[in-house]
Parts: sequence; structure tokens; C-alpha cells
Amino acid sequence: MKKQIVAVAGLSVALLLAGCGGSTEDPVDQSMPGNPGGGPGGSGMTKSALGAMLYKDTNLSKNGNQSCESCHSLDLLTGGSGTTARAFADPGSSVSNPVSEGSDNGVFGDRNAPTAAYAMFSPDFHYDTTTDPANPRYIGGQFLDGRAVDLAEQAKGPFLNPKEMNMADEAAVVAKVRDAGYAAMFRQVFGASSLDVGNEATAYNQIAEAIAEFERTPMFAPFSSKFDAVQAGLATFTSEEQNGFDLFQVDGKGKCAECHKLERAGGSSGVLFTDFSYWNIGVPQNPNNPAGTTATGFTDTGLAANPQVIADGRAASERGKFKVPTLRNVELTAPYMHNGVLETLEQVVNFYNTRDTNNCWSNTQTPFVDCWPDPEVSDNLDVTFSGDLLLTAQEESDLVAFMKTLTDGYFTP
Ligand code: HEC
Ligand code: HEC
Repeated sequence: MKKQIVAVAGLSVALLLAGCGGSTEDPVDQSMPGNPGGGPGGSGMTKSALGAMLYKDTNLSKNGNQSCESCHSLDLLTGGSGTTARAFADPGSSVSNPVSEGSDNGVFGDRNAPTAAYAMFSPDFHYDTTTDPANPRYIGGQFLDGRAVDLAEQAKGPFLNPKEMNMADEAAVVAKVRDAGYAAMFRQVFGASSLDVGNEATAYNQIAEAIAEFERTPMFAPFSSKFDAVQAGLATFTSEEQNGFDLFQVDGKGKCAECHKLERAGGSSGVLFTDFSYWNIGVPQNPNNPAGTTATGFTDTGLAANPQVIADGRAASERGKFKVPTLRNVELTAPYMHNGVLETLEQVVNFYNTRDTNNCWSNTQTPFVDCWPDPEVSDNLDVTFSGDLLLTAQEESDLVAFMKTLTDGYFTP
């Protein structure tokens, strides 16, 4: 039964993708429940279909070998679930290869590619002084340090990032779009002269706007996991899953929901397992990160490197904090954390459970196997909700069982 439902979900996505296959004659799939609204000369639906093409176009990279999709796979629903489905994360990443290679061979970024699914719900980056006036804090934005205020701003980054798609400049990206099979569609959405020489700056923003529109379509937020089915009264947890859910709660031993919130955020119709706030949970450096380690001059300070935070004069109090990720589809997106240092969900839960009680102290211990190395950044470390949870081995595995209920494709909502 489960398989059958997945196949149905996969079919509608396959239709969407087929509809966006790069042909110039009306590629818009009218059956796609797109967003209403949209810009000049086109409906939101058209804009998102254009965005899908831009998202998948490897030609928009220096060597013609990389698109957004290369690092944020659309495989989850087209390929069904399983080991090859990567749920909008990088299919090529692993614990020994935790960060993505760019368009140029041998050039790597310094962070593990997060899922692009459910990112649409992250509010614009801001300093929130109203929700809890006694504890004002940064919320939202895109990237693990929120340095892009929203999805459109985010989408402008990868094309020009030398460690990613490495195009020379905005005009070079626009020139490729001008030559693309979908250029007519671009003009249909944004106006007949939108791709003309002289309009590059506006056209570049429109490219980002269309991609953002695509990332706001329902395929990026299916809410079709077992968890959602249970919430809707259509399925029941096994006793392990239920126990894991109980442990996960704010008043459970795991306390996970203190940060991976069960309240709905950002106008979402389902639980996102984050409120897009920022915390330092003491993740150690990844010795396999090509960017290096503190010993070789590299430290990822997270939110403290966000230009807005620096301008606000708050870098010191935000050092080491990263955005709380959604846990939806987390079963499919290993390795984990900003630097991909943790390999399995079992290891993640064990880390939360024993970070503070099992610190590496002797060189006869094997780091990550016998013990935990020091945090990459020890300032602002959360010790209230994480680090020493006194979970039993069974409780650890129940938490993992619960997280595996968050994989989409279980049912059709
Ligand atoms: C070479 C791999 C690579 C490519 C290509 C790439 N990304 Fe990313 N993406 C990443 C990494 C790594 C991060 C996290 C970077 C950070 O936090 O500094 C990221 C972050 C994101 C985020 C933010 C998610 C969140 O939770 O904050 C979104 C959305 C996203 N990318 C969409 C895109 C789009 C759209 C494109 C194409 C224009 C693209 N990416 C191209 C690797 C890639
Ligand atoms: C104090 C806030 C906080 C608490 C409590 C917390 N988390 Fe997290 N969690 C985070 C942050 C922040 C990250 C991202 C850290 C990074 O990238 O370095 C994260 C990352 C993760 C990831 C990796 C996701 C990915 O895509 O890489 C998993 C899995 C996870 N948490 C599960 C849990 C579980 C299970 C619990 C309870 C045992 C828990 N978390 C408790 C804040 C928290």
C-alpha cells in the first residue's frame, strides 16, 4: 500500500517535470497547483515553471556541469524513497565527502548542502524582539547563517559563487538564459525586452525570483510523511515511534522540541520541526572538511559571520550558532550538521545525549567512535537542553525511529 501511494505522488511530480523539460512550446503544466499571483505578463504558475527550468539548467554554471539540482536533488518524489532519494540535498555528499564540489573540479564549499525542501517557510531574516521580549534573537533567512534574507536573495548566490557554479558575473548568467530553449518563456513571464542587453541587472533578479517561486511550489513541501498521516488520524505510530515522539517533546527526556519546534512556523500548514532560530549545539569540526580546521586557520563561526549581525554589533553573542534545520526527510539527508561531521541519526542522538559526559580526553580514544572532540566554537554553547540527556540505548533508538517517520511519500495528504 505504501509503495502504491508513493508511486502516485511520484507521478504528479513526473508530470510537472516532464512539463518543464526544456521545450519552448507551452511548457506549463496546468495541473500543477502553483501559487496564485505572479508578476508582469504571467501567472505565478508560469513563473514557477520557468523557475523549474532555471533550477535544473546545468548550462548556468561555468563548465556546464552543475545546476541547483546537482546539490539539491529533486529525487525524493520522482525516484520514490530509498537510498538514492536525497530529498532536495546533495546526492554526492557523505561523511568523508561532506561538502559539495563546485563546477570546477576539486573546488569545494565549506558546508554540507542542506535540503531546499520546506525552506520556503523560513521568515525573512530579522531580529525578533516581540515573541519573547526577555530573550530577543535572530530568526529566519536562508543559508545556515541566514545571510540571505529570503529565497530570491539566496538564489542569486550560487551562480556567482566561485566554489559553486562559478559564472563570471550576472551578465554572463543572463546571456546563457538568453540563449536557452526557455528564453521565450522568460520573455512571456517578465516582458518582451526582459532579456535585452542593458537589462541584465533586472533580469538577474528575475531569474532569482522565478527560482524562488518554484521553491515555493507544493513539491517542496509535500507534508506526506507518516508523522502527518498520524496527525491526520490515518495511521498509528509503532510503540518505538510513539516513545520516540514522547521523548522528543519539550517535557520529554530528549527535549528536542525546545528547538525543533512542534508549533507551526512561517505560515506553514504542518509542523516544520524548527522555528528558524539559531543555537550553538557544540558540533565538533569535521577533519574531512576541505576548508580545513581551526589548526589550519579555518573556523566556521556560523551566525557571527552574517554581515547583518556584524553590522548590528552582535557577532560575539552569536558565535557558533547555526539555524535549526527542519527534520523532515532527515532520514535521507546524511551526513548531518553544518559540516556533515555526523554520519548517522544514531550518532546524532548519541551526540546530544553524551556530548558533555563523553568528551575526548585521551589519545587512546578514537574521536567520534569512543568520544566527542571539543565543539568547533565553545562560546554561547547550549547546555540547558542538550549535552547530557541520560537517555538509555533503547531511548536513543526510539528517537531515531521517530525521526524516520518524518520521511515524505508515505501517503497522499
Ligand atoms: C555546489 C553545491 C550547490 C549548488 C550548485 C547550489 N547549492 Fe544551494 N546550498 C548549498 C550549500 C552548501 C548550502 C549551505 C550554505 C551555507 O549555509 O553557507 C546551500 C543552501 C541553500 C539554501 C538554503 C537552505 C536553508 O535551509 O537555509 C537554498 C534554498 C538553496 N541552497 C537553494 C539553491 C538554489 C536555488 C541553487 C541554484 C541557484 C543552489 N542552491 C545551488 C550547495 C549548493
Ligand atoms: C538547543 C537547540 C537544539 C536542541 C535541544 C536539539 N537540536 Fe537538533 N539541531 C539544532 C541545531 C542548531 C542544529 C544544526 C547544527 C549545525 O548545523 O551545526 C541541529 C541539527 C540537528 C540534526 C541534523 C539535521 C541535518 O539536516 O543536518 C538532527 C538530526 C537533529 N538536530 C536532531 C535532534 C534531536 C533528535 C534532538 C533531541 C535529542 C535535538 N536535535 C535537539 C538545535 C537543537
